[in-house]
Amino acid sequence: MNRIALSDPEFATVASLLHDAAGLSFDDSRRDSLGFCIAERMSATQVSEVSTYLAMLTGPDGGRERQALLDEVTIPETHFFRNPPQIRALRKYVMPELLRQAADSKRLRVWSAGCSTGEEAYTIAILIRELLPPSVDWDIKVIASDVSTRALTAGRLAHYGERAFVMTDPLDLGRWFVMDTTTGSWVVRDEVRELVEFRHHNLVTDPPPFDEDEVDLILCRNVTIYFDRETTRRLMKRLHSRLRDGGYLFLGHAETLWQISDDFTLVPLGDAFVYRRLDETEEKTGDERRWVLPDRRTENEPRPTRADRRRGDADRRGRPAGPVEIPKLPRLVTPAMPVTPPPAPVPVAPTRDPLDAVRSAIAEGRYDEAADVAAEVVAATPLWAQAHYLQGVALTNLGRDADALVVLRKTVYLDPEHGFAHFLLGGALERMGEPIAAARSYRAAANTLGRRKLDGVAPELGGRSVSELAALCMQFASRAETDFRPAGGIA
Ligand SMILES: C[S@@+](CC[C@H](N)C(=O)[O-])C[C@H]1O[C@@H](n2cnc3c(N)ncnc32)[C@H](O)[C@@H]1O
Repeated sequence: MNRIALSDPEFATVASLLHDAAGLSFDDSRRDSLGFCIAERMSATQVSEVSTYLAMLTGPDGGRERQALLDEVTIPETHFFRNPPQIRALRKYVMPELLRQAADSKRLRVWSAGCSTGEEAYTIAILIRELLPPSVDWDIKVIASDVSTRALTAGRLAHYGERAFVMTDPLDLGRWFVMDTTTGSWVVRDEVRELVEFRHHNLVTDPPPFDEDEVDLILCRNVTIYFDRETTRRLMKRLHSRLRDGGYLFLGHAETLWQISDDFTLVPLGDAFVYRRLDETEEKTGDERRWVLPDRRTENEPRPTRADRRRGDADRRGRPAGPVEIPKLPRLVTPAMPVTPPPAPVPVAPTRDPLDAVRSAIAEGRYDEAADVAAEVVAATPLWAQAHYLQGVALTNLGRDADALVVLRKTVYLDPEHGFAHFLLGGALERMGEPIAAARSYRAAANTLGRRKLDGVAPELGGRSVSELAALCMQFASRAETDFRPAGGIA
C-alpha cells in the first residue's frame, strides 16, 4: 500500500487527533503525506479499511497505535553540528560563558527538546567535552527528549550512518566517534554518551522535565515548524519558565518568536541570532528586547540605571529616521571572550540610500562588487535586514550558497516577513542537500509573500511578481518534500 486518499472527514479526524496529541498542525497541502503515513500504519497493523483503522486509532485502546502514528508522521531529519552559525556561537560564546558561570556550582543543565535521533544532544555533549574532560567532577546533564519512541530508540543506540555527518568536520568525527566495523556505523564515544539522558516527552501535553529556573540552555530547533501559533506560544512560555535568568534558547533557522513571545531577548552572537532569558530587560518594550545585545560585562561593572536607559531612548529619538534602529551597545568587556568592536553608528544620509550602489551592481551583474559593498553596509548597520538580503542576492548569484545561507538566515531573523529572503534561502538549502529545510523556507516564502497586499515586483529576482513567486514557492516546497518523502515522515 503506497498512499491512501483520505476523504475530507477522514483527513479532519486524523489532523485533529494529531493536533491534540502533539500540537502538530496539518493543512490541506500535507494531506498526501498524511495519506502515505496512514497507508504505512494500515499495512503494519494489517487493516484494509480506513474506517476500521480510524476506529482503532481513536478508540479507548488506541494509545499504542496513536504513538505508532506519531512515530510515523514526525520527521526525524537532523545532523550532528547542524546549523554551523549556531554551532560556532555555542562553541565560541555560549558554552564557555555557561561553564564559567557554573564554575562554583559545577552544575549544568541542557535540554535538547525535540531531539529526534540524538545528534543535537550529542553535539552539545561534544562541545561540553571540548571544555571539560571526563576526569572533572561536575554534575552535567543533557536531557534529550522527544515524542517519537522510534527516534529515541535510535538515539539511545548512538550508532550513526554517513548521512548524520554531512556537517561534521572530519577531525570531530575522528575524535568523538569510533567506527563499528561490523555494521559500518559510527558510534558516539562513552565520554560523550554519559552526559546525555534520553526521555520520552511530549512538549505539548507533558509538564517540562525540569524545575522552574533550572535550565542553562534549551535547544528546541526545527520542532515548532508545524505547530500552530497558539501551541508555540504556550510552549515558549513553558520553556521561558524553565530557563534560568541568563539562560539561552536556540530555535531553528526558520523559527522565530516574532509575534509569538516578548519574553526573550534576541541576541546576535557571531553569525547567529539566538534568544536569551534576561530578566533585567523586563521593563523594556517589545522592540527594545528584540534588539538588545548580549550583556558581556564582568560582575563588577555597574549595570545601567533607568536614567541611562532613558538617555539611550532619547539618543535614539534624536536621530533622523534610518532604515532600522541601531541598538545602544553595552560596553563589551569580558576578558575570556572574544570581543568584536561595536559597529560605528550609520551616518544616515537623508537623500542617498547606501544600498543603491548594491542594487545597481546587482542589476548590472557585477555580483562580486555588490557582495563587497553590501558587506560594508552590513558592517555599519548589522541589524538592517535589507542589507543582509541584498548581500544574499549577490552571493547566491556568485554560486556561494554556504555564504548566502548565513546572511539570508540573518535576514529572516531580522525580518521574518521577508518573503524574498525565505525564497532564496529555500533555493540555497535545496542545493545544499537540505530538502526538508528548503521546503520550510519555501512555505515561509509563500506565506509571507501571500500576506503582501500589493503585487510588487522584485527586480533583483529577475523581475518576478510577488504572486508569481508565491505560487512558485508552493510548487518548490512540494517538490522538495517529495524528494525527501521516501526517507521520512511529515513533521
Ligand atoms: C526535525 S526534528 C528536529 C531535531 C533536532 N532538534 C534538530 O534540529 O536537528 C523534529 C523533532 O521534533 C519532534 N516533535 C514533534 N512534535 C513534538 C512534540 N509535541 N513533543 C516532542 N517532540 C516533538 C519530532 O518527533 C522530531 O523528532
